Parts: sequence; C-alpha cells; structure tokens
Amino acid sequence: MDSSIKRIAVFCSGGDAPGMNAAIRAVVRTATYNDLHIYGIFRGFEGMINGQIERLETQNVGNIIHRGGTILKTARSEAFRTPEGRRMAYESLVAQDIDACIAIGGNGTFTGAQIFSKEYDIPFVGVPGTIDNDLYGTDYTIGFDTAVNTAVEAVDRIRDTADSHNRLFFIEVMGRHSGYIALYTGIGSGAGSVLLPERETTIQEVIQQLRVGAKRKKLFSLVIVAEGHPLGGAQAIADAVKHEFDYYETKVAIIGHLQRGGSPTAMDRLLASRLGHAAVEGLLNGQRNVMVGMVNNQIAFTDFSDAIHKSKDFNPELLHMAEILGL
Ligand code: F6P
Repeated sequence: MDSSIKRIAVFCSGGDAPGMNAAIRAVVRTATYNDLHIYGIFRGFEGMINGQIERLETQNVGNIIHRGGTILKTARSEAFRTPEGRRMAYESLVAQDIDACIAIGGNGTFTGAQIFSKEYDIPFVGVPGTIDNDLYGTDYTIGFDTAVNTAVEAVDRIRDTADSHNRLFFIEVMGRHSGYIALYTGIGSGAGSVLLPERETTIQEVIQQLRVGAKRKKLFSLVIVAEGHPLGGAQAIADAVKHEFDYYETKVAIIGHLQRGGSPTAMDRLLASRLGHAAVEGLLNGQRNVMVGMVNNQIAFTDFSDAIHKSKDFNPELLHMAEILGL
C-alpha cells in the first residue's frame, strides 16, 4: 500500500459515455472504503485549470449508476494544451493537496494526463470511457456496449421502414477513427454491409457489393457507415452510388449523438464498476500513469504511451463473418 496517497481527484474528459457515472461511483466508494479523501473535478481539464474541485462523499454518488452522461460534466480543453494552462491546473491541485488523479476518458484525455504527469509530479490512473472502443489495453471501453445497443435498436427500426418501401439505406454511426461501433452494429443488426475507416474500400467495391444483393433479389438493403470512413460519411457515399440503383430509393440516416446518451447497459455498469474500483486499488498498489483495462475478463494495466499509441485492431474474422452473413 502506498501511504503517500491520501487525497485523490476524479474527473471525466473528452466525449461523455454511458457508464461514466457508474465508474465515478466505484471510484468514490472504493476510495472512501480505503479511508482516502476523494474530490471531483468538474468539466475535465477545464475545471482543473479553473479550480472547480469539490469533495465527494459516498452519498454524492448514490442514485447515479443507471444514469447516462456524467455528474462531473466533461469538456475538451484547448487551454490544457498550453504550458500555462497546465501550470494553472497544477496550482489548483496543489491548493487542494491532491496527491493523485483518476481520469475517465479516451485517447485525448490520457495524452493530456501523460504530458501533465511528466511536467508535474502528480500520478494518474486512466479509466477508458469512450463509446469508440478504440483504446489498446482493454477489450472494451465504458460506453461502447450501450452505444452499440442504441445503434442496433435504431437500425432495427430503420429496417422496418426500409423493408416496407424497398429502400437502400446508408446509416451512419459514430467512430471518427474507429470502426468498432460500425462493425458490431452491422453484425448485431444483420446489415448487408459495413464500411469501416480501417478498411480501404472504393466506391466501385461498394457498388459491386450492393449489386450482389440486388441480384439475389434483396428487396431492401442496409449499409452501416462509420462516420470516419475515408470515402466520406453516409451522405457522400449514398450520393456517389445511388444512380446505380434506380430500383431502390436511396435514403440516409445519421444516428449521431443518440449513441452517446441513455442509461448504460448492465455490461457497461459492470465494466465501469470493475474498472473504477481497480483504478483506486491500482493507485494504492503503486500503479502510475497507466490505463486500467479489462483483457480476457481480467484487470490489466497498460502504460499510457501504449494505450495511446498502439492500435487496437479488430479480429479480421469478425469482418469476414460480417461479409458472409450480410450477403
Ligand atoms: O469520441 C467519441 C465520439 O462520440 C466520436 O465517436 C465522435 O466522432 C465524437 O466523439 C463527436 O464529438 P463531439 O460530441 O464533440 O461532436
């Protein structure tokens, strides 16, 4: 046990994700159980700079496990990218005698934490909270399961109307650099094809795939497009192919921020609880500047630099299977 850590702060940063509240609850209650003083920083690094830091007690995190969003709020901070911003953030932490921080967020959050902890002697443990599931060192990130469930439910609804009208639908899901949401949504909703940023596809290939379906007399078609696809979003791809399929009416649906809200699934609550709990225990056991993740259902700690820079490739078998099942 590291007895130098007595006061820790927890915050969320970057895009919110369902399950962040469950993680905050686990951090606060595990810290309290270990006789630590726990503080919440509001609005991420912005709040760290502005000194928006408040003591949290066990009762402050009651009745939040089922709530989407984050009670601590979140932000994407430009000021924290500057040395002056980070100096102000350090002064705020020192003013409250904070010994260590737990950061709940994604790639940008851990990059900020890593730079900060190199400049100032404040250790961090990161908890992966992003719907994108794009972090190396954890099989799943908090919020991903909920986002996929939301997207699958949306596609199910679109399927009904696509079927009734014989339409070709391009449905855009989130994931700027990552196709995880698109791939899992595509498989889970039984879509005809999935277009991912990680996989180069030409417009001709998209047309070819759709022709195969049309030959099989498919009466409607659903294509899931990750927003970060190099050919453009769902609208751009729909515009480029629709002239080839005049027997279908082509439509576009963008699920957007619907995927970011809502009550977290049981899987996300469980993952968030385990990771939040392990983050505090990790800090007390000497873990420094690492992300806590779940690998093969076991807690695993990964250096920030690996979590940030190594890419998490998805299983190519899944993509192959999606192609076969979507035919
Ligand atoms: O990183 C999570 C995410 O939801 C991405 O999938 C998406 O591209 C981005 O955030 C959207 O960010 P914002 O809410 O700031 O527009």
